[in-house]
Amino acid sequence: MRHLLTLNDVTSDEIRRIFALTEDLKEKFLQGIREPLFPGRVMALVFEKQSLRTRVSFQAGMAHMGGSSMMLGADVGFGKRERVDDFTRVLCEFVDVIVMRCKHHETVEQVAKYATCPVVNGLTDQAHPCQALADLFTIQEHYGSLEGTKLAWVGDANNVATSLAIGCGRLGVEFSIASPKGYQFSSEFLDSLHAQCPDLKFTATEDPFEAVQNASAIYTDVWASMGQEGEQEQRRRDFADYQVNQKLMDAAPSEALFMHCLPAKRGEEVTDEVLDGPNSAVVQQAGNRMHAQKGVLAWLLGAQS
Ligand code: CP
Ligand code: NVA
Repeated sequence: MRHLLTLNDVTSDEIRRIFALTEDLKEKFLQGIREPLFPGRVMALVFEKQSLRTRVSFQAGMAHMGGSSMMLGADVGFGKRERVDDFTRVLCEFVDVIVMRCKHHETVEQVAKYATCPVVNGLTDQAHPCQALADLFTIQEHYGSLEGTKLAWVGDANNVATSLAIGCGRLGVEFSIASPKGYQFSSEFLDSLHAQCPDLKFTATEDPFEAVQNASAIYTDVWASMGQEGEQEQRRRDFADYQVNQKLMDAAPSEALFMHCLPAKRGEEVTDEVLDGPNSAVVQQAGNRMHAQKGVLAWLLGAQS
């Protein structure tokens, strides 16, 4: 049984296969073709946190492929009404794939342990693999190839950053990160990253201007993620020098993309000028969430039959 909890769960070749499926499905979608690849298949989404992009892109994508989906809200009592193992084993009697958005990464691991159908991580505190796949696909689409590209992350070393770092390692993309002290990757994560991706070209610095040198894309995310709202004020102070503004964009090659997973806090981690500027890829990235997740579903569900 294959799951997608982090990008450590997929090999480089498997990501390339997912990207090939993504490209094909996107091309057909743009031509108005929606092949019913998975008629009668059902996806359940269990979300402990808010979502626009992840939820809608998965549900729309499943509908395009002839399947159906259901968003399970608080009324199913996930984690409250019965044990997670009982919940999961019963849910798997009804559905073919589960997408989870969890406060704690351990919860999605627990669901995957008991699931008899594939489980996909739609964001946890530690990882956002579907986001990273869509983002790397976006860079590949923009430059025609990922060869020789470099992604520079500016800000909190959070769930999106960890997934992008692994994704870059899997696909041969250079990865640099600029974060203030106290908000950098943990040594445990770095050990795992280098063990998983021994060839990854990786640099970590506190200086955003150093990180964006020669970058093909500059990526940032909110300073306080969901669940960290209480730290917002402290983080505003700690990240004050990490805003992606035109001055920082000007330190990178003129063609460098600006990327953000969204939702953004405009005026904090990014200025309106950059977010709405000519190099901004944010809407393309969001759109590619749907295409890349259709690629993931085609790979996961196709692998079952
Ligand atoms: N980028 C992303 O995952 O957005 P949502 O939180 O709206 O799903
Ligand atoms: N780091 C953000 C990403 C949202 C898509 C969060 O976890 O809230």
